[in-house]
This record gives sequence, structure tokens and C-alpha cells, in this order.
Amino acid sequence: MEKRDALYAGKAKSVYRTDDPQRLILHFRDDTSAFDGERVESLARKGMVNNKFNAFIMGKLEAAGIPTHFDGLVSETECVVKKLEMIPVECVVRNLAAGGLVKRLGIEEGRELTPPTFELFLKNDAQHDPMINESLAETFGWASREQLARMKTLTFQVNDVLKQLFLDGGMLLVDYKLEFGMFNGEIVLGDEFSPDGCRLWDAKTREKMDKDRFRQGLGGVIEAYEEVGRRIGIEFD
Ligand code: ATP
Ligand code: TYD
Repeated sequence: MEKRDALYAGKAKSVYRTDDPQRLILHFRDDTSAFDGERVESLARKGMVNNKFNAFIMGKLEAAGIPTHFDGLVSETECVVKKLEMIPVECVVRNLAAGGLVKRLGIEEGRELTPPTFELFLKNDAQHDPMINESLAETFGWASREQLARMKTLTFQVNDVLKQLFLDGGMLLVDYKLEFGMFNGEIVLGDEFSPDGCRLWDAKTREKMDKDRFRQGLGGVIEAYEEVGRRIGIEFD
């Protein structure tokens, strides 16, 4: 697979074309951003850690029958994926209250959410990724009714697989965000799953082991990501 020109540089990853029009290379950079891109820092090893973390999780999801864009690793910080036509909607599931839900609704942090909640956000930096709903997505053509139904089903399937995986490693999957896209008429999981886009707490101490360490200036960000990885069986280096 030959890497060609850059197609897009996001806040944390760069996307390259390849000699195959149906495949892209995702480069996980060390850049870390929070608060709508207001705070950006480079954290050593992050690109490598998230690339390997994401590869491991995508493998687990594929094994559970969830279609993903992931094809394989090509370097420490890069992987090959199917080129999707991305659906500009982010799907968020929450098992415990944290982050935006706590702020928006005044729910106490850590409250168990039964059943888990499902939220949609529009991927639109200029509008600061506002929360939307299925009616708005359908009316404005961001996603069809069928796509929304399938994304919701897949997002909850991911919850079943990953909640257990992290629990086996002594961690709680608090919440997470997924992005999907179309490939040959099928909805496929795209983007990444890493501690950048989810919340993970130690099950006993409830210590934060995800990007909240960066958001809240707690330090030990990448050390925590690596500890999460090790607990679920990922080897770094
Ligand atoms: P955000 O941080 O809000 O998710 P971003 O664009 O800054 O946005 P990055 O992760 O830095 O995010 O960039 C990666 C980009 O590549 C995203 O826009 C994502 O939607 C897109 N992308 C991910 N997987 C695929 C794929 N398989 N095909 C096409 N585009 C993809
Ligand atoms: P949320 O609490 O709504 O947002 P924030 O913490 O940014 O105020 O996010 C729920 C989970 O989804 C959390 O683990 C972060 C992730 N997420 C993203 O990674 N990107 C996003 O654009 C959104 C809306 C959520």
C-alpha cells in the first residue's frame, strides 16, 4: 500500500490517500486537544498508544460481528482503513453520568444510568458540535431514518462488547463517542476508539484513566492510557 497526499488534517489525526481509491491511511499524531480545540498540547507516545489501542478494540468489535473500517496497522502510528463517506453525526452512549450530561442537566457525577442513554451531536466545528436529535438529523439530511436506527443498534452492540472487556480489566466504561460512515451501501464504524473519545474509571477507586486527565490537568495522561491498554491485554513497545 502506497501512501499518497494528505486529504485532511484533523485535531488529532491526519488522513492520507493511498494508491487504492477505497483505502485511506490514518496517522495518529501526538496532538491532544480539548475544549473545542482551545487547548492543544503534544503528548509524547500518544499517537503510538492510540493507534495500537484502536487496532486492538476494532479487532474485538469485528470479532463480535460489528463492521468496522479497520484493515490493519502499517506503522507504529498509522493504520489502513476503508475510505468511508462519513455521516456527520456523533453517537454517544453513557453508562454513568459525567461530562456534558452533568453540566447540562445537573445530574450527580457517577450516577448509574439505567437504561444507558443515547445522544446525537452534529460534527460541525463552526457550530461547536451541538447536540441534535433524530428529527433534526432527518430533516436536514445529516442522516436518514434507516441510518440512525442502524447506528443506534451498532452503538449499543459496541457497549455490550466493551463494557465487559473493560470490566474484566477492572474498569468502568462511563461513556463514549462513535462515528460511522458508508462503505458499499453498508453502515460501518469509522474513526477511532481510544481513551481520547471515551471515559474509563478504575472500578474500585473511580480514578479517571482517560482524556479527562488532560481536560482537568491531572497529569499522567499517557501513563493512564497505557495502563488501560495493559489491563485489557495490549502490549506497547
Ligand atoms: P473531532 O476531533 O471533532 O472528531 P477532527 O476532524 O479534528 O474532529 P481527527 O480525529 O483529528 O478529528 O480527524 C480524523 C478525521 O477523519 C475525522 O474528521 C473523521 O471523521 C475522519 N475519518 C475517520 N475515519 C474515516 C474513514 N474511514 N473514512 C473517511 N474519513 C474518516
Ligand atoms: P460529553 O460528556 O458529551 O462531552 P464533553 O466531555 O466533551 O463535554 O461526551 C461524552 C463522551 O463522548 C466523552 O467520553 C467524550 C466523547 N465525545 C468526543 O470524544 N467527542 C465529541 O465531540 C463528543 C460530543 C463526545
